[in-house]
Amino acid sequence: MPTLIELSGVKKVFGSGPEAVHAFGPVDMTIEDGEFISLLGPSGCGKSTLMLMIAGLLDTTEGAITLAGRRVAGPQTDIGIMFQDNTLVPWRTVRGNIDLQLEMRGIDPAERAADVEELLRSVHLEDFQARYPHELSGGMQQRAAFCQAMVHRPKTMLLDEPLGKLDAMTRENIRSDLQALWMQKRPTVVFVTHSIEEAIQLSSRVAVITPRPGRIERIIDIDLPFPRDFEVKSSAAFIGHVRETQEIFRNYGVI
Ligand SMILES: Nc1ncnc2c1ncn2[C@@H]1O[C@H](COP(=O)(O)OP(=O)(O)OP(=O)(O)O)[C@@H](O)[C@H]1O
Ligand SMILES: [Mg+2]
Repeated sequence: MPTLIELSGVKKVFGSGPEAVHAFGPVDMTIEDGEFISLLGPSGCGKSTLMLMIAGLLDTTEGAITLAGRRVAGPQTDIGIMFQDNTLVPWRTVRGNIDLQLEMRGIDPAERAADVEELLRSVHLEDFQARYPHELSGGMQQRAAFCQAMVHRPKTMLLDEPLGKLDAMTRENIRSDLQALWMQKRPTVVFVTHSIEEAIQLSSRVAVITPRPGRIERIIDIDLPFPRDFEVKSSAAFIGHVRETQEIFRNYGVI
């Protein structure tokens, strides 16, 4: 697969002088077109910082990022972003929130109506499109946010702990929706999670990041067939990957 995102010598230091915080890097890494890669690392190791740098919302202190062959030097529009706290605006309905992402990019929502319907169906929100965010459960809000991140058909999705606040059952359900959508549309997904099992279940590769300043400790290929439902978690291969990852974090004293 061709490279979609390339990090060369990417480093981030916040502030300067004695107050400076070396948050991330330097890191060299390539992310392939269409892969699902998870970033797994302890709190404060620079995962969100890296996501913001890839999106062009934060400068690198050193090094460069290229996206689809072009250097990232400002906010990128061909990206879908989802954070732990969703970005739904309260004064628009679910449908209105999703359409807003199109409007912002100069795309006529009427032209994409069939797409939006399909997306809503795929996350089981078709009957709630006329509701406002406060009328939805937390899990439903995250599903709507997911549609927001997908609707403009971005080639790249940056998902920063999008499921972090959800209960275990909802989380499992959204995971499987996410996996199905990824298999169908094949965007490149960069997924941040604190859950070792979640990372292994969803990803083609898992990048294990060290404590701050975050560097890539190891990239683990997850060679299990998709789709992976919860049963995969009892397979020997899956358990082996969990152990390998835990071992790294144990050596760092993180767990
Ligand atoms: N805007 C900022 N100004 C100063 N320091 C920052 C800023 N953003 C992040 N940091 C620091 O950079 C380090 C990495 O933060 P970051 O949010 O990227 O971590 P993370 O890996 O996403 O952590 P978590 O898993 O808790 O979300 C932290 O020490 C944090 O305090
Ligand atoms: Mg973070």
